[in-house]
Amino acid sequence: MDIFASVFLSSSLLVFSFVSSDAVDSITQSQSLSDSKNTTLVSKNGRFALGFFSPGNSNNRYLGIWYNNIPVKTVVWVANRLDPIPDSSGLFMVNSIGSPVLLSSNKAVHWSANSTKQARNPIVQLLDSGNLVLREENEDNYLWQSFDYPSDTWLPGMKIGWDLRTGLERRLTEWKSLDDPSPGEMSWGMELHNFPDLVMMKGSQKYMRSVPWNGDSFGGIYEFQGTLVYYNFTFVSNKYELYFIYELINNSAIIRAVLNQSMYMGYVWVGEKEGWSMYLNSPKDKCDVYNLCGAYGNCIISESPICQCLEGFKPVSLETWDPDEWSRGCIRSTQLSCQDKDKIRFVKFAGLKLPATTYSWLNVSMNLEECRVKCLNNCSCTAYANSDMKDGGSGCAIWFNDLTDIRQLEANSNRQDLYIRMSASEQEVKNKQKTKVVVIVVVAIAIVFGVLMIPYCIWKRSNFRGEDLISFDFSNRATQRGLINKKRTGKGRNNEMELPLFSFSSVSIATNYFSATNKLGEGGFGPVYKGSLLNGQLVAVKRLSRKSGQGWEELKNEAMLIAKLQHNNLVKLLGCCIERDEKILIYEYLPNKSLDYFLFDPIRHGIKDWATRTHIIEGIVQGLLYLHQYSRLQIIHRDLKASNILLDKDMNPKISDFGLARIFCGNGSQATNRIVGTYGYMSPEYAMEGLFSVKSDVFSFGVLLLEILSGKKNTGFYESDSINLIGYAWNLWKSNRSLELMDPILGDTPPTNVFLSYINIALLCLQENAVDRPTISDVISMFNKDPALLPSPKKPAFSFGRGMEDLGSSKRNPEICSLNDMPVSILEAR
Ligand SMILES: *[C@@H]1O[C@H](CO)[C@@H](O)[C@H](O)[C@H]1NC(C)=O
Ligand SMILES: *[C@@H]1O[C@H](CO)[C@@H](O)[C@H](O)[C@H]1NC(C)=O
Ligand SMILES: *[C@@H]1O[C@H](CO)[C@@H](O)[C@H](O)[C@H]1NC(C)=O
Ligand SMILES: *[C@@H]1O[C@H](CO)[C@@H](O)[C@H](O)[C@H]1NC(C)=O
Ligand SMILES: *[C@@H]1O[C@H](CO)[C@@H](O)[C@H](O)[C@H]1NC(C)=O
Ligand SMILES: *[C@@H]1O[C@H](CO)[C@@H](O)[C@H](O)[C@H]1NC(C)=O
Ligand SMILES: *[C@@H]1O[C@H](CO)[C@@H](O)[C@H](O)[C@H]1NC(C)=O
Repeated sequence: MDIFASVFLSSSLLVFSFVSSDAVDSITQSQSLSDSKNTTLVSKNGRFALGFFSPGNSNNRYLGIWYNNIPVKTVVWVANRLDPIPDSSGLFMVNSIGSPVLLSSNKAVHWSANSTKQARNPIVQLLDSGNLVLREENEDNYLWQSFDYPSDTWLPGMKIGWDLRTGLERRLTEWKSLDDPSPGEMSWGMELHNFPDLVMMKGSQKYMRSVPWNGDSFGGIYEFQGTLVYYNFTFVSNKYELYFIYELINNSAIIRAVLNQSMYMGYVWVGEKEGWSMYLNSPKDKCDVYNLCGAYGNCIISESPICQCLEGFKPVSLETWDPDEWSRGCIRSTQLSCQDKDKIRFVKFAGLKLPATTYSWLNVSMNLEECRVKCLNNCSCTAYANSDMKDGGSGCAIWFNDLTDIRQLEANSNRQDLYIRMSASEQEVKNKQKTKVVVIVVVAIAIVFGVLMIPYCIWKRSNFRGEDLISFDFSNRATQRGLINKKRTGKGRNNEMELPLFSFSSVSIATNYFSATNKLGEGGFGPVYKGSLLNGQLVAVKRLSRKSGQGWEELKNEAMLIAKLQHNNLVKLLGCCIERDEKILIYEYLPNKSLDYFLFDPIRHGIKDWATRTHIIEGIVQGLLYLHQYSRLQIIHRDLKASNILLDKDMNPKISDFGLARIFCGNGSQATNRIVGTYGYMSPEYAMEGLFSVKSDVFSFGVLLLEILSGKKNTGFYESDSINLIGYAWNLWKSNRSLELMDPILGDTPPTNVFLSYINIALLCLQENAVDRPTISDVISMFNKDPALLPSPKKPAFSFGRGMEDLGSSKRNPEICSLNDMPVSILEAR
């Protein structure tokens, strides 16, 4: 039998007086709290109460502390978490050896507090901080306190951390459920070393961590949003103790932090609303998950994939590189040599969450330069940083081992720069490569001129070795030619031009491993990155989404096809890369972004002069004409829209993404059950029945033309009872008010009849019936015609789209083959 129970039994003849219902804040050895008599302790100025309660829907009774002065019952501490009392026989008192105990009817001990020494006149008191303390009647020091044994709630004044003398650790543990306050898997506490992280553990696994307190913040983790005015933080690290505490500055504030099954949350009581308001929660997103991206990986929440390698690092294995499986992390692009200190430099990384400090070292009196020297002199040191940011930066923290659990923080949320040890030879390597580039460029020119006539994109699976391919893959040119020759004879291909093949590793390097900073945007077929070839040429790298069901053979054929299309108003395809799952097209880079950026951006509104707009319109028409009529094969774009018109530095328009529909949805037939396109630009017969032809491109062009003339987007445009821009334009046309369509920001207004003829042409392109629409060469001649001679347009197809459901019973049910930036799926017939 438990010692306390026996002590109790031996002293059970003592007569206890129950505390009266008049609120008192303490009991002595002769008093007790009884559940059946509904007695509680209330702290001196009424803030907290100690008593019996049942959590949630449970009927079990627990002894706990809750706020006494707010209307929402909020329990902050529970004594008998593991051992509930099944009935209301609970009795709380101080036993004969001076320990607080919790008993029930059969005198079973459900909980007891172990005091450090036996008190002669013990008193148990509930303080206004929410701390239940045991002390000698006329002394101040506590023999025991509930603050040393937190439940799931961290109150101001409570320490989280370690007492190094006794080994006592104070950490939060979640309630198993709202009905059960027993400790669950999740806990939150401080690591035991002198530069400690606060760590949330799920069982024995790290789940989320903060960074060490840097004197005035948690370096971008746990953003407190103004609540700091209510309290201050202190981190204490000395021979005896290692803990973290927060204290109220404004005593009328009611603040708590609590841990549940999934997160750590900070709450402040808002009196006017009679409710708790959450001011902090952690983890707040996926990047907070502990070490999601592995060593030297940087988690960037706004990116896809969210894991990137830090600059100067590459994925552990290119061979098995998978953007969704990042826990393997990254390794140095250039290996470190430790011996030669001249070959070491430290690269500053700003705005990162500092890496896990499990293997770290701290000296608070060193400055940053001493810190650098300290790190330089120890081969296992991987990084250093100031440890304290209070007065502009002081102290020295040094990391050993690989740097883990890094994420990109919001701008300006952390001034604590991290200096990572890198190989200085990287720069030298680059310089060396520059001379190589000259050679490569010469070779490249020779090849381009020599082989231009033979488009051929080679599958070079067997040649791929991620490590040894650094640049544009000219190294194996001879072998490749050998391959071409073999294939040519084997498959009877003739007269084919070589399309440069890039290795995946070279594309990775060119785009800085598809890093977030290189990303230009997300097209319908996948993300686009800016890349830089070793010769300095900028390229746009389109990484096709893996959804394209095509194998390399088909893609290769398509890429060759696309490469053959060369026109001033088409974006030039420079090369491709097809390896395993990766299908990548490399295009010329155009610095001026796309047309939608200029037309619709409310701030930029870049195209003020009419001449530039007509120049763009003419360019688009010429590009389309080439695709439709003059190229060797007819290409139907199928996704013509403002964001697919790129502009070069002289504002020459260049159509992009042509041919991609073929890659994604197949070519061949003119009726398809696979739709690629964008809501708002699709002709009705294509959207409804999957019928596409040059006339569906003409329809898209009509939409584009209206957008260029008006500066308004077709979709998302609502005025009076028109359902979209097309409807609006039609209504104005019918009432002879088409001039109202003119973009008001145009600096120089075009002649009225010219503007009206452009609207007229646009409406002709938009006619409901495809056979009524002009071809693109008709359009060109119309632009040169006397406006008076233009035919009048029939009713355009503007009623489809938003009102699609009304047209309901389409015969086909077009399958969506690639999702664009607008949801096409709404086009699926019901
Ligand atoms: C117990 O006391 C509290 C306040 O002292 C009161 O609000 C509550 O209704 C009482 N409960 C019972 C069962 O008497
Ligand atoms: C008090 O000490 C006893 C005996 O060492 C132990 O079984 C019990 O768990 C302790 N209680 C608390 C609340 O630490
Ligand atoms: C924090 O505030 C408390 C209460 O005002 C004060 O006693 C304590 O010294 C403060 N600590 C720091 C580090 O400013
Ligand atoms: C303290 O907090 C209370 C409640 O939020 C507020 O009304 C009061 O103005 C604050 N006092 C000071 C000195 O900041
Ligand atoms: C933890 O609390 C938050 C905030 O109330 C809630 O959204 C979340 O669902 C809770 N987690 C669990 C596992 O109940
Ligand atoms: C910390 O740095 C100071 C100043 O450089 C130095 O005097 C002290 O010995 C260092 N402490 C340790 C433990 O290295
Ligand atoms: C480098 O640091 C590690 C970890 O603190 C230590 O074990 C090792 O002795 C140090 N080496 C040198 C050369 O100082």
